[in-house]
Amino acid sequence: MSFSVKKIRRDFPMIAKGFEGSPLVYLDNGATTLKPKAVIEALSDYYCSYSANVHRALHGPAKKATSEYEKTRSLVQSRINASSSDEIILTSGTTAGLNLLAHSYGSLLGPEDEILLTVSDHHSNIVPWQLLRERKGVVLKVIPVSDRGELEMPALTSLLSKKTKLVVLPHVSNTLGTINPVGEIVSLVKKNSKALVIVDGAQGIPHLRVDVRDLGVDFYVFSSHKVFGPTGLGVLYGKKELLERMPPFLGGGDMVDQVDFAETTYAPIPYKFEAGTPHIAGSIGLGAAIRYLESLDFEGVMAHEEELTICGLELLKGISGLHLLGEASQRVPLFTFVIEGAHAQDLGMILGQKGLAVRTGHHCTWPLLKRFGADSTTRASLAMYNTVEEIEQLAKGIREALKILAV
Ligand code: ALA
Repeated sequence: MSFSVKKIRRDFPMIAKGFEGSPLVYLDNGATTLKPKAVIEALSDYYCSYSANVHRALHGPAKKATSEYEKTRSLVQSRINASSSDEIILTSGTTAGLNLLAHSYGSLLGPEDEILLTVSDHHSNIVPWQLLRERKGVVLKVIPVSDRGELEMPALTSLLSKKTKLVVLPHVSNTLGTINPVGEIVSLVKKNSKALVIVDGAQGIPHLRVDVRDLGVDFYVFSSHKVFGPTGLGVLYGKKELLERMPPFLGGGDMVDQVDFAETTYAPIPYKFEAGTPHIAGSIGLGAAIRYLESLDFEGVMAHEEELTICGLELLKGISGLHLLGEASQRVPLFTFVIEGAHAQDLGMILGQKGLAVRTGHHCTWPLLKRFGADSTTRASLAMYNTVEEIEQLAKGIREALKILAV
């Protein structure tokens, strides 16, 4: 069925309901996306009809909960084209996935080992590696971005060496909207080093078709709530042989084979990395979100988003004094900007009063904002259900706000 934005808008209750009786133009999808009815109903169905723990009991609700929980693993595997569902670890989000890697894979590293990060990384892909540096003495090096907001590939090449053990980067920058050429980067890294590549896919997965085998990445991490699923759940994809070699991160129930005070042995992957009762409802909700995405014409989604990007750039650039951060040629409909004479917090507040939901601040990318000489910015981040009319409303709202602020 061909993609129709008008039709999919009806699937998201908050679009029709608005907020507290007023219309809402939701442009804060980089922070979290709205949820379709199918996801909300799947959560409610679990809690109303078969609320039970997974992997533990043999009664009816437990068996159904386990089977629905595990179906999500298979749905994720097929959505990102992983070779096996054992390569899909369910976590509590992108941050948890990256911390798991920094602890578990990081425990195999030592002083002298180098990790390359990018200046455009989110704090969740910077701080865990800094904590690892404190524990293990690894060396962190930073790949710069150009004024256009694109990764400096020659700098990446020159930073790679025998000492490089990991290269970590975002698939899509949550502040610049840049789509990094992950496949090209993986080829470059593998040609010039033995390093593994970890991709923070939090902002990639809602906008792009992700094929982890085609990209050649070693690890790919994302959050359910940024891809129309529930909060508190995420995915860590890792190549089987790597996950098998890595020690567990959290210890507890469900991640063990045998437990004895003398020695404990661990469950095989993926369970080795899923200690404790997981977010069962969240997983079932993510399954519903993936099924929903699979029911859409995703090529149509991407074409629509391309139109939103072109239109957003044109309308925002037409506002006098507005400067966009980054203008990469490959990007998603996400626009971060500063306006001469207007503080982002004031602008965000006025836009909020007009029902235009944008995010203001540093977007958890302080180093990147410093790189662009900005301290506080406004960000409009769009999803597949946003429309050209909503971008026009944003541009009109900004102009009206600037009048109020006497800019
Ligand atoms: N990382 C999310 C954002 O970019 C919260 O807003």
